[in-house]
Amino acid sequence: MYPAQAHAIKTFGKLIEELPVPQQTKPHIILLAGAVTPFRHDTDREMVFRQESNFFYLSGCSIPSAYLLLTYQSGTSLENNPLIQLFIPKAELADLLWSVPPPTVQEASAAYQVTRVEHLAELTNAIKEQMKAYAGATFHILPAGSPLFPSLPAQYTALVLPPNANATDEYLLTALHRARLIKDTDEIAAIRQANAISSRAHEVVMRVLGQGVRGLITQGKGAGVDRPLLPGEWLIEKEAEAEALFVASCRREGAVHQAYLPIVAASTRASTLHYCCNDREFAWGPVAPHAHENGNYLAHDDTRQLHPQVLLIDAGCEWDCHASDITRTMPVGNGGKFTPEARAIYELVLEMQRLSMEALKPGVHWDAIQLLCHRTLVRGFQRLGIFKAPNSPNSGSWNAEEAVLASGVSSAFFPHGLGHSLGLDVHDVPSASKPEQNNTIGKGIELGHESFYTYLRLRLPLEEGMVVTVEPGIYFSPHLLAPVRDSQHVDHDVLKRYESVGGVRIEDVVVITKDGYENLTTVRSDTDWIEAVCSGEI
Ligand code: GLY
Ligand code: MN
Ligand code: MN
Repeated sequence: MYPAQAHAIKTFGKLIEELPVPQQTKPHIILLAGAVTPFRHDTDREMVFRQESNFFYLSGCSIPSAYLLLTYQSGTSLENNPLIQLFIPKAELADLLWSVPPPTVQEASAAYQVTRVEHLAELTNAIKEQMKAYAGATFHILPAGSPLFPSLPAQYTALVLPPNANATDEYLLTALHRARLIKDTDEIAAIRQANAISSRAHEVVMRVLGQGVRGLITQGKGAGVDRPLLPGEWLIEKEAEAEALFVASCRREGAVHQAYLPIVAASTRASTLHYCCNDREFAWGPVAPHAHENGNYLAHDDTRQLHPQVLLIDAGCEWDCHASDITRTMPVGNGGKFTPEARAIYELVLEMQRLSMEALKPGVHWDAIQLLCHRTLVRGFQRLGIFKAPNSPNSGSWNAEEAVLASGVSSAFFPHGLGHSLGLDVHDVPSASKPEQNNTIGKGIELGHESFYTYLRLRLPLEEGMVVTVEPGIYFSPHLLAPVRDSQHVDHDVLKRYESVGGVRIEDVVVITKDGYENLTTVRSDTDWIEAVCSGEI
């Protein structure tokens, strides 16, 4: 059963730590609204329901329009046994007629690890009862008025706000984020399952690309003329086709949601970090650097060849409200093999990821791994000649590795953070993973150029049980390159040869263990395997 009680105890523990000392031993009550089923106007049809993450964390309950009331007081029996009350809607005749009704109180009591389940009509009384039983209790709510959380109706807030009671939104979200930062075995199991399903979906796309290269995808009689194509007759020649196959593979394994909308970018569109169109054909014919326009107007036929290019897919489904977040970059055209330039960049990104992962263990600061990644990029670019190497003609100490790192020029190619905490949300627990008051930064660790940290979403030493993504990338984006067009560190002729690669990102999800890490992403990323699959050799 979902460990709601352990999560409640952990959250109250963090809440108490956040509170001023005189308040710590007083009673504290959490009042939370769950998400409401969204409807699209004029359709009379629900949109897909997704529980609010904090509500799910404290209950494991995905019933729409539910409420939670949790009571705790340290130093009393509630410390190990907080009262967890769940309020659910009563099934209406219309629910039965049009849709699936919520479970009964008895069914919900059996399904969730809560002290008591009642219908919504009981919530007002329950709040009043708690106020009476725990005089002077403080009510804790999520940030009032924030569009990020379901709002508490005035009928309930009026009961708990002054002058009737003490209510505050100052501490609860921080406490929940801090509790959620370190995952337990149930959370890791759900993330593992999301990763397994998404890993298979990535491999499905790669294998269908490979079958296309081998000419193994054929169309039966009447396909596309007298009848629509069946899934086995689809070639992947557009971003939309790759996206459709990825999502279909997750859905047929039971995943209801994608953890975020898939990013499916072919050719130089891979340089847009969170590309969101997914609506272009692959590039047919030569692709100029940064040619984002190679679109549907390039009609193709049997005689036209796909241009060598990359296909970057950053996509992951949810399982039981827990995310996955996986990026694979695969070769398209060129018989399913990378060009020499794309292969060199791919291998360098893989090296950035491998060295980062080898450094993962509790106590290591994420900033240090971010710097390591930039160092690996600088070394790799000096090897490839994109950055001038110290032993090249006209060189000096100004282009030694340390000097290049200190200049920040590598941020033009790797602008984002190496990774982030992942859990119920893809970019999980921001207030805990990058706290405003952070006395861990710069403590005994070298930092490098400040631009390395602009988009870093995790700025803490790692701890056992954290789940993080490791997602280095190298991009050739016109917007990012503009400021380094006259950099003395860059060999601009060599750079030109690489610009049509567009971008490469490789992203896996790992859990930090006692003395290292475990990779929860199962789809492989080694270069030879990716090429063998995408070319249909295996
Ligand atoms: N999928 C978004 C990210 O990788 O952070
Ligand atoms: Mn990510
Ligand atoms: Mn991602």
